[in-house]
Amino acid sequence: MGWYESVTQFAADQIGGRGRNGEAGGSDLPDNLMFARTQDEEPPHRAYEPVAPMLAIPSRLETTAIDQVYMAFDVSQPVGQPDDLRGRDREVKALLSGVLHRRNHGIVSGPRGSGKTSLVRVFGQYADREGVVVLYSACDDGTSFGELIRSYLEQIPPAMVDPGMVELFEQRVISFGADSSPYQATGVLAMLKYSQLVVVLDEFDRITEEDMHDKISSLLKLVSDARLPVRFVLVGGNSAFADIVRAHPSLMRHITRVSTAPLANEAIEELLERCSQRCGIDFSERAKELLEEVACGSPYHARLFGMHGALNALAEQSDLADVSHVQHGLDEAFEEWSLLNPHDAQNFRDVLRGRFGNPTDFVAFARQVAWHNADDDFARDWKMQPRHSDVAPPTGLTQLGQTVQVVDDHVTFRDATAPQFLVALNHARGSAELRMNGGNRA
Ligand SMILES: Nc1ncnc2c1ncn2[C@@H]1O[C@H](COP(=O)(O)OP(=O)(O)OP(=O)(O)O)[C@@H](O)[C@H]1O
Ligand SMILES: [Mg+2]
Repeated sequence: MGWYESVTQFAADQIGGRGRNGEAGGSDLPDNLMFARTQDEEPPHRAYEPVAPMLAIPSRLETTAIDQVYMAFDVSQPVGQPDDLRGRDREVKALLSGVLHRRNHGIVSGPRGSGKTSLVRVFGQYADREGVVVLYSACDDGTSFGELIRSYLEQIPPAMVDPGMVELFEQRVISFGADSSPYQATGVLAMLKYSQLVVVLDEFDRITEEDMHDKISSLLKLVSDARLPVRFVLVGGNSAFADIVRAHPSLMRHITRVSTAPLANEAIEELLERCSQRCGIDFSERAKELLEEVACGSPYHARLFGMHGALNALAEQSDLADVSHVQHGLDEAFEEWSLLNPHDAQNFRDVLRGRFGNPTDFVAFARQVAWHNADDDFARDWKMQPRHSDVAPPTGLTQLGQTVQVVDDHVTFRDATAPQFLVALNHARGSAELRMNGGNRA
């Protein structure tokens, strides 16, 4: 199975509720569900006589246009095509040269929604084209080292092993159990002879047990020292690097590290332009500026807020989303987020009505945190965006309770996607009323 199919399979398994070993779950959704619908494949439309005055249900034509906006902005999926990955050329090149040519392991780290999976996915497509076998899976807390590694071993194509050794290889994979060690894993991987293997462990930060970090570090070190044609790429939050080198400081020499720091505004603009091309709704210059201002370099937020703005333009049958469409969109995006995170959302409404001090200080701080979300020492060197002057945390910040937390002397938001929602609320259509009405929306 190629890289692209392996990611597709993984995503379809997640949706279909299939377990790691492929046993069927509660749904029979097709494996290619994620990529099944394209415009060309729309079922033929049959016209029916309306039997009653039209209800307030969008017509099929409108539904298709709405779908097009959803698909164009594709907020919940990692980027599918290299062309859609904007502003990451440097990172893709660093990963390709580090992992494929220098034979290092890779670590891709960055905050939620910054494009880690998108980046490794595009890297995987390039690596695939170079004849490298790329295997992908996401980690889960509570999985043992043996179970995790076995899930990859089972996917290795037998063609990578000497024809005379295939049977022995398969036996070793079968007997590789939940309690197997890094040393045993290296023994199995040592049988790979033909082509390079890259193993991508996404969601690495979901693993919290130190023992697991230690075992994975040992495996990486053993594989490097034995000069095997196998490389690992770990993908996770900013702590991923520290977690992995803690157990084996000498691993530093064998690792290429790439950070998905906030994107430069030009990349955000390119991203929005591609979405516009797909759905036929452009943004006015001022609307784009507003989106850049609020997204703070995050591709996830740019797509989300842009999508809401475009839907508002569509609702008015306009093919140009202007500032007011985007401002309404920010409102809607905030309300949507507040359903997932009501505690933080209520705090932000209270912030804007001045309950904890000057709202402007909070918004400036949120913006600073968003721009520096990936700002550990490494990311600082790599960031293309000029460093903004530091903004001190407002004194009333501690009154936000669990919404903020202190990690390594840095004040951060518990929900890493939250700062942009405070900035969004500040620019949203209803923000003026919010300040006047004590947080209650009309
Ligand atoms: N460089 C980019 N250019 C354009 N869109 C991007 C880029 N990076 C990410 N995106 C978009 O941003 C959203 C989040 O991307 P992705 O899922 O890759 O982030 P992530 O860091 O893996 O998130 P998480 O931490 O939740 O796993 C997706 O909609 C994706 O299509
Ligand atoms: Mg991801």
